[in-house]
Amino acid sequence: MARNLIDIVDLTVEEIDELIAVAEDIIENPVKYQDACAHKQLATLFFEPSTRTRLSFESAMLGLGGSVLGFSAASSSSTAKGETVGDTVRTVGCYADIIAMRHPKEGAPIAAAQVCDTPIINAGDGGHCHPTQTLTDLLTIHREKGRLDNFTVGFCGDLKFGRTVHSLVNALSRYEGINFVFISPVELKLPRYVKEEALKKKGIPYTQTTDLESVMSDLDILYMTRVQRERFFNEEDYMRLKDSYILNPEKLVNAKPDLSILHPLPRVNEITVDVDKDPRAAYWRQVANGKYIRMALILKLLGIEV
Ligand code: CP
Repeated sequence: MARNLIDIVDLTVEEIDELIAVAEDIIENPVKYQDACAHKQLATLFFEPSTRTRLSFESAMLGLGGSVLGFSAASSSSTAKGETVGDTVRTVGCYADIIAMRHPKEGAPIAAAQVCDTPIINAGDGGHCHPTQTLTDLLTIHREKGRLDNFTVGFCGDLKFGRTVHSLVNALSRYEGINFVFISPVELKLPRYVKEEALKKKGIPYTQTTDLESVMSDLDILYMTRVQRERFFNEEDYMRLKDSYILNPEKLVNAKPDLSILHPLPRVNEITVDVDKDPRAAYWRQVANGKYIRMALILKLLGIEV
């Protein structure tokens, strides 16, 4: 049976640590890996828009000596003619060795995995989860801080629809000594099911607030997120909430000198461009890390050791 990555909890902590170690080795020794996936093909099936995830997957496979095929919009596939996700994925499984797919419907990658023997990677399913962004985030934290435990982590913005938040909370809850601070408008609070499964069952401490500046000085990591316009039921609510948090240099005055600022990107308005030159802004380094962790993941799911 194919090994898939649908949710971050499909990987053990040991496997995550191993992927991070491989990604760091790839960063140090890229030549060693340049032919590791020769004659292998990755298909990227993106039923929803993407810049970083799709292109970093493709860059990852090309960096491993493999090749890529796929589509970047449902409208350019036979989905537009009414084909089901299952039939599309089953078809692509005949042409590719591994599939990365993004879909607006929660659970679509699980449904796909049930009809396809080719490894499936969930590249984001609706407001549910985004495990390869989480691996990117963990690699970034590891490279910035040298560890993945004993931090106070603030998540700020759209914690309701932000699937990267749900996956990262799940992942970090498995490491020791993490305190969570959730900063959001009342309407965009972290879903109850994430709190129950990832935090309450394990007795992990967390606080919730609407005020970013009141908690800024406590944070070791600040994970900013975009308000997810595409998941709102009406434009009026989006317009009211979209600028709830705008991080700028003034708001960082009381932050720790070694704070790490992460953002899965794309950003809209929630971090001003002048924060980019602050050495604590790690989000452009995070973008670069996305390629290397996906290289490590492709190797793992294809069972290739270098
Ligand atoms: N972080 C992320 O998923 O970005 P894209 O939507 O550009 O892939």
